Amino acid sequence: MWQAARMDLHPALAPLAGLLGTWRGTGHGVYPTIDPFDYGEEVTFAHVGKPFLSYVQRTWEPDSGAPMHSELGFLRATGADRVELVIAQPFGATEALVGTVEDGRLRLRSQAVVTTPTAKRIDAVERDVTVTRDAQGPVLRYDLRMAAVGEPMTHHLAAELRPGD
Ligand code: HEM
Repeated sequence: MWQAARMDLHPALAPLAGLLGTWRGTGHGVYPTIDPFDYGEEVTFAHVGKPFLSYVQRTWEPDSGAPMHSELGFLRATGADRVELVIAQPFGATEALVGTVEDGRLRLRSQAVVTTPTAKRIDAVERDVTVTRDAQGPVLRYDLRMAAVGEPMTHHLAAELRPGD
């Protein structure tokens, strides 16, 4: 997507600045109704000087490199520690999430998930993201839970990403 090369970061985005850039790594997925799986992942957060970040994500099968899930969105800073995230997914679902950012920790809960007539049923989504540092440098970790296909809120994804190209 686009990136504001020399544009100053909007001051409202200061608590989210640690997300900026491209991250790569691996994740693991589970759900009561499916077989567990591993995936490779690349995520890019960019800005254009306005009070939101763009979010582009793609995943692939670790062995074959074949594309898996991907999603696109915008993360808005809406004052104090409040954030809002909208996401579009290729399988006919959109999420609107609200939450907080504190000390590099994002906590997002869906207010609404809207699905197309042929999409799988998704009732609610919870996304937790942290950006910290360890001995190897910055690390982005996330957990995603969902209430979907008749199951209650249950863990689906966890991944660990490092700065990429
Ligand atoms: C890293 C991103 C993701 C990967 C790699 C991934 C991968 C998978 C895989 C391999 C399956 C099982 C096969 C299939 O039904 O296609 C699956 C099922 C599913 N995923 Fe994900 N997924 C991702 C993100 C998401 C997100 C963000 C949501 C919803 C917010 C979601 C919702 C679902 C649902 C509803 C199912 C169907 C479960 C069932 O049919 O029993 N996934 N996912």
